[in-house]
Amino acid sequence: MIPADATGPEVDQLLRFPPGFLWGAATSAYQIEGAWDADGKGESIWDRFCHTPGRVIDGSNGDRACLHYECYADDVAAMAAMGLQAYRFSIAWPRIFPQGDSRLNQRGLDFYRRLLDALQRHNIRPMATLYHWDLPQALQERGGWANRDTAYRFAEYAALLFERLGLEIPLWATINEPMLVAFAGYGDGRKAPGKRQAWLVPRVVHNLLLAHGLALGAYRQLVPPPVPGTPHQGIGIVLNVRPCHPAGELPRDERAATMMHNLTHRLFFEPIFRGSYPSEALAFFARRGVLPQQAPADMAVIAQPIDFLGLNIYSRSVVQARPFSPLGMRSIPGPGPRTAMGWEIYPACIEEAIAIARSYGELPLYITENGAAFDDRPDDEGNIDDEARMNYLRTHLLSAQRALQTGADLRGYFVWSLMDNFEWEEGYGPRFGLWHIDFSSLERRWKRSAYWYSELIAAQP
Ligand code: FCB
Repeated sequence: MIPADATGPEVDQLLRFPPGFLWGAATSAYQIEGAWDADGKGESIWDRFCHTPGRVIDGSNGDRACLHYECYADDVAAMAAMGLQAYRFSIAWPRIFPQGDSRLNQRGLDFYRRLLDALQRHNIRPMATLYHWDLPQALQERGGWANRDTAYRFAEYAALLFERLGLEIPLWATINEPMLVAFAGYGDGRKAPGKRQAWLVPRVVHNLLLAHGLALGAYRQLVPPPVPGTPHQGIGIVLNVRPCHPAGELPRDERAATMMHNLTHRLFFEPIFRGSYPSEALAFFARRGVLPQQAPADMAVIAQPIDFLGLNIYSRSVVQARPFSPLGMRSIPGPGPRTAMGWEIYPACIEEAIAIARSYGELPLYITENGAAFDDRPDDEGNIDDEARMNYLRTHLLSAQRALQTGADLRGYFVWSLMDNFEWEEGYGPRFGLWHIDFSSLERRWKRSAYWYSELIAAQP
């Protein structure tokens, strides 16, 4: 039995995952590509948000980011040198449909074809996310995700990609973290499009889920089913899971933690896996005078079976009742050590999150994001000894391994992130990468964790 608090290099030889387990790293388009207006790309809500003063902590933006748009070939070669078996990236919708309508921008599509060719040459399996938050601004002008029509535009965009790239991309994810899109994009306005219109949140949630369901329908029509027994194939969604713990023993903190769980997890899992919204979440919104606007057939669309579920797992939420605040509760930092994001390091979050997912039934799971920002400092020679990240990854992987031992159908793991990148409203401060990026010269340099991860992958059976 592996001790729950094991850490350090002695853990490495304990980390042995089943044959066929997929080892990868993840990124998203806006955070790394740069080239924000190249080759006919349209403006996205993140372009607009970052170009609006006061939105991003350091006033920065993703205009250039890591310039992966130009450096992709070298980046893929370096992934291969690390021994990565899979790469999770996202497709920027406004590169494909700059105006959000049906006018295709072939040059945008060509970029992803070049990227896929490079991955294929190096035998790295792609997992593509269709929506990692960069909506075409033109659709925002028409209400964005608060407008039901956006779900249909998303389905068209998805269908085009399934037609053109369907079989070349074995793993498709529809939407990344719909919960963040709704609550941070429309509730507190931390993220693009920066709306503080909490009454729109249930409507946005519903339209995102509908978009997911419509895209699933398009996939089933357009992409032939995998040959039985083919591993790592199909379509799913990526949900963020942060197990909720009450801050204290007060019943009201317990109620707050339960409600946080309802809003962050059940609100998404239940429509997808059971075809209905949890009544507690509906009652929560109803008390605030709002409800999702749904058509009778929507739930059947949303609840179509998926082939896998992606989980983004970083930490837990310690929840305290907070009367008079918008949600009536808030997350406070837990007692454990923290990352540079202020997130508590709580490795059991992996097992707990997987248990939440499994309570909806058994299906293939991937950890589509896990990782940490630390204050990485290059030494005199420019090397970065990020032992804290290695220990974070080790302890979280041990937790993943314990989940496997209890029978979870966990098929793969993606470190967030392959490289330091633009961390949304936090700008370039937080560094999550296995690779250090010098944002002036754009030089990539493997941190110690990248060498470590490479060796860990090589040591697997
Ligand atoms: C997740 C996002 C990802 C990155 C990490 C740190 O919520 O999906 O883009 O920002 O957090």
